[in-house]
Amino acid sequence: MLRTTLELARPLLFALDPETAHELTLRTLEAGLYPRAEKPDDPRLAIKLWDLEFPNPIGIAAGFDKDARAPDALLRIGFGFAEIGTVTPRPQPGNPRPRVFRLIGHRAIINRLGFNSAGHGPALRRLQRRPRLGVVGVNIGANKETTDRTADYVLGLETFYDVASYLTVNISSPNTPGLRDLQAPAALDELLKRLMEARERHISAGARRVPIVVKLAPDIAEDDLPAIVERLLAHNVDGIAVSNTTLSRPGLPMTTLTQERGGLSGRPLFNRSTAMLARVYRLTGGRVPLIGIGGIDSAETAVAKIEAGATLIQLYTGLVYEGPGLIDRIKDGLVAAIERANLSSISDLVGTKAEDWARRPLDY
Ligand code: FNR
Repeated sequence: MLRTTLELARPLLFALDPETAHELTLRTLEAGLYPRAEKPDDPRLAIKLWDLEFPNPIGIAAGFDKDARAPDALLRIGFGFAEIGTVTPRPQPGNPRPRVFRLIGHRAIINRLGFNSAGHGPALRRLQRRPRLGVVGVNIGANKETTDRTADYVLGLETFYDVASYLTVNISSPNTPGLRDLQAPAALDELLKRLMEARERHISAGARRVPIVVKLAPDIAEDDLPAIVERLLAHNVDGIAVSNTTLSRPGLPMTTLTQERGGLSGRPLFNRSTAMLARVYRLTGGRVPLIGIGGIDSAETAVAKIEAGATLIQLYTGLVYEGPGLIDRIKDGLVAAIERANLSSISDLVGTKAEDWARRPLDY
């Protein structure tokens, strides 16, 4: 019943500007007015990874709940994990509005929010108050005006170390000028060295080893990818998330709307991000778990992402267009795919079509 009400609410939400609609959605979640997942997850969807247990591999991607206002509600509507953030050390307003655009016919979004964030403090307090159940990752970033970006990431690690199931280092947002330069191998070396040293201090003091995931852009040039992945492997990152939004406009006509500045997400990102994911899978030889993100809006696209190499998947734009019913449809589709292939667990499907996906061009 509540689910139907929410499905009916979608045209209303679409009548509002995207940021107002999003704020309303978050308040609905904060108020507890959302459909609970009705049945427990099929055990074949469970993933044991790092020291964590994911009831299913589907996560809400970063950017949906930037300030950790509703991670538990997101888990209760059926996500297997939630990633909050990107959160920056100090509060900042982000870019001027309008800065989020729906490309409805293309099932896509362009955003140039620019890390609007209430800062570390409020997110930390909310995470300290919540029961430590379920997997909640924290996605950390740097303030726009900071003079030492690396220090902002280290501060993110220090601040959230005790409350984060895992940490994602976001060096791939296209909306903070210069941020993506941190993906260059030399910059990456310095950043990861300092982050790993900081983590080592916590581990030596008896804390758990919080997994560190690095989130990449889908716009990395094909020739640059091997050196980047090599640095990630050299620093023993625990996971790689592929991908953030794209500055390209794959398959989109040139219109005022599609030419809005910012990162594109949703259906047009699917091919590019999946082809990139498969390349990373091949370069890592499947040794590092990957989080596949970009354009998942159906069971088929979720299965394809896993076959291309993702151990876990995340989505954001698909939820905007499909509503929360998408989560159950994906779960049913994943179970059906396991049965079709005569497998016993979703993990058995990871990377089974990576070679095929890695051969596809990035720019289609
Ligand atoms: C995002 N995304 C994002 N990613 C991130 O690491 N930190 C962030 O703060 C945000 N913010 C954000 C805002 C909005 C409005 C959107 C649509 C997206 C990117 C997101 O996590 C994901 O990587 C991409 O959107 C691709 O996935 P989907 O949306 O195609 O499923």
